[in-house]
Amino acid sequence: MTPDASSAADSEVDTSKGKIVIGFSQVGAESDWRKAHTLSMTETFAGDSRYELIIDDAQQKQSNQITAIRTFIQQEVDYIVLAPVTESGWDTVLGEAKEANIPVIIVDRKVDAPQDLFTCWVGSDFYLEGCKVMEWLKSYCDAIGMEASDIYIVDIQGTYGSSAQLGRTKGLVDTADKYGWTIKASESGEYTQAKAREVMAKMLRTYDPINVVYCENDNEAFGVIEAIESAGGTVGNSIKYGQTMVLSFDGVSDQAKEYGRIGKISCIGECNPLHGPRVKRIIENIEAGIEPEKYEYVDEAVFSASTTVSHITVDHRTYMINEIN
Ligand code: AHR
Repeated sequence: MTPDASSAADSEVDTSKGKIVIGFSQVGAESDWRKAHTLSMTETFAGDSRYELIIDDAQQKQSNQITAIRTFIQQEVDYIVLAPVTESGWDTVLGEAKEANIPVIIVDRKVDAPQDLFTCWVGSDFYLEGCKVMEWLKSYCDAIGMEASDIYIVDIQGTYGSSAQLGRTKGLVDTADKYGWTIKASESGEYTQAKAREVMAKMLRTYDPINVVYCENDNEAFGVIEAIESAGGTVGNSIKYGQTMVLSFDGVSDQAKEYGRIGKISCIGECNPLHGPRVKRIIENIEAGIEPEKYEYVDEAVFSASTTVSHITVDHRTYMINEIN
């Protein structure tokens, strides 16, 4: 943020021209995280008479998002907020928004487009999230005396081509390379419980042993746990004694927190969905003539009910491991 951004964010928006109309293109409702993200946007703007928020649910399809953005341009909205399903394929439509002089704020995942085609981005460092969870695994394995050669990981990936998938997968692959772990298989669970259950059931029939499942969100973890338990296995931290360890991301829903507390999910890398107030602050700053930072990363935690690992270090920064509340 620019130094005086927070004070500007508190200042009144000039409504003399009427309401500020925001067109929000949301990916869909594939996960608990996504629902919390949509709720954060609606709760932030719905109660504020200075704004009108138009939401379009793209049902996980980029083509729907492109159509929605074109509709917003025709409606002459004041701002476009885009939560992009994938990183690539945005140049043309973002160029059209730029041509129409409509600021575009990207939230959550990034776009792989020239920087002059959008105003700014706010979201998570998905690569860092992945590295943090994998460093937790390293510290945990060291603490229980588990050799690298005894670790067999499968990756239930997110939606292919999304920043969350690209970053978390790279965090896994880089850390596994660093420590000599084997990744036996990788396949997308599309961030959904049903698809992850199906993929995990197939992996259990194909690969043996598997003792760590890296799920790229909590909903996938729920499906994975169902598949393991249906096949007669148990999940938990005792990988030395036959349990399968489940790792995941988000930490948003009550079920994820409960699974974290009882150890069905061993470690959760937080992904923060509360972007509504952040988007509002950015808009209020722009209205006040303050240019937003081009890229704004959200600080996120690591959660585990196990006290075996107290902290981890990634890229010279230390992160404490938090209890799950
Ligand atoms: O882009 C954020 C990811 O998308 C969340 O981790 C996942 O749950 C969601 O669907």
